[in-house]
Amino acid sequence: MSVPFIDLKRFEDGIIEQYTAKVNEITKNTQFIGGKEVEQFENSLKTDNSVEFAIGCANGTDAIQLALRACGVGPGDKVLLPDLTFWATFEAVVNVGAEPITVDVDLQDLQMDFFLFQEAVEKFKPKAAILVHLYGWTSQYVYEFRKYAKEKNVLLIEDGAQSYRVKVNNESIYKNAYISTISFYPAKVFGAAGDAGAVLTNSKELAERVRSLGNHGRELHYSHGLVGWNSRLGNLQASYLNINFPYLNNRIQSRRRIAERYRNDLKEFQVHTTPGLKSLDGTILKSSKTGIQIEENGYLNVILIENEKREKLIEHLKKHQIGYGIVYPEAVSEQKGAKSYLKHKIGGENAKRITQSVINLPLFPYMTEEEYEEIIKVMKSF
Ligand SMILES: Cc1ncc(COP(=O)(O)O)c(C=O)c1O
Repeated sequence: MSVPFIDLKRFEDGIIEQYTAKVNEITKNTQFIGGKEVEQFENSLKTDNSVEFAIGCANGTDAIQLALRACGVGPGDKVLLPDLTFWATFEAVVNVGAEPITVDVDLQDLQMDFFLFQEAVEKFKPKAAILVHLYGWTSQYVYEFRKYAKEKNVLLIEDGAQSYRVKVNNESIYKNAYISTISFYPAKVFGAAGDAGAVLTNSKELAERVRSLGNHGRELHYSHGLVGWNSRLGNLQASYLNINFPYLNNRIQSRRRIAERYRNDLKEFQVHTTPGLKSLDGTILKSSKTGIQIEENGYLNVILIENEKREKLIEHLKKHQIGYGIVYPEAVSEQKGAKSYLKHKIGGENAKRITQSVINLPLFPYMTEEEYEEIIKVMKSF
């Protein structure tokens, strides 16, 4: 029996019919740009995350660029980012003309290392930093990052592309961020029917700048106060996301349940968790140094295994037709494309070590019992 790494086709009953009806309606009235679906989606995002402002945009990469530009980050400004993240985080910094500096990650939670971050702030005096909430959880030092950045006047942008419904002390991860960004790429926990993104903030001024920048710097239809670009969220995408919103709880619960089962059933592989992670029965899996409570969203599961053993495990999984992921195979600073832009990096080689040992098993909502059992059987026979 084969099990895919991810299967996006497990729609709940009625989704395709509802969406088809919306496509019909929107096509008939030709309200493709802006309109009530976008408005409804932005309102739902605000309520769901307890933030003051939510602005839809074209994708998660643009969301970071909009946030950087709204914060006034541009040519000559230094921006810190973790050495382990999706390439888009780095691209966004370069695309606004700023200078990226990578910071190594913490081996305990696999997120940007808070102590190295402090060192980098002292050493490079960056204008901004991007804290990425990777793998479906976050740093146990997330509050410390925010506090320290504020004290040092470093504008902290939170790349929450992977962290929809991650909770910190029972609140949305986005709630208390200065400015945060989301990706609705179809394979994310909350996926669109194509590309989509959003920026969230509690600042009216930032929200207005983001909205204007993503709509040609508009003040009025033909009056342009800023040089921006076109990064609007389309009405069709928004309608798809609106239809999917009510199903999100079930999907996340399903993901969390599988993530937790992996941890319990594959103890010998030490499925990675972050300190302070709350299990479904409310117990805290490992206590964090900061006393923070994190609730994952079940985006990815992470196993760290030595390089040679990983090769053998990959062969084994392939032989038994079990899908797997390597998220990510290279640290940001090791990418060929980084060479001409990266003048500084801080810390050691933790990110590189992780990329050489990470492997991800299938994790998607509504995985069947048979599929799960098959994965466990194959893993146990390794
Ligand atoms: C951490 C991170 N940042 C940024 C992005 C970019 O989002 P998008 O693909 O929607 O542009 C992604 C996902 O693709 C991501 O995982």
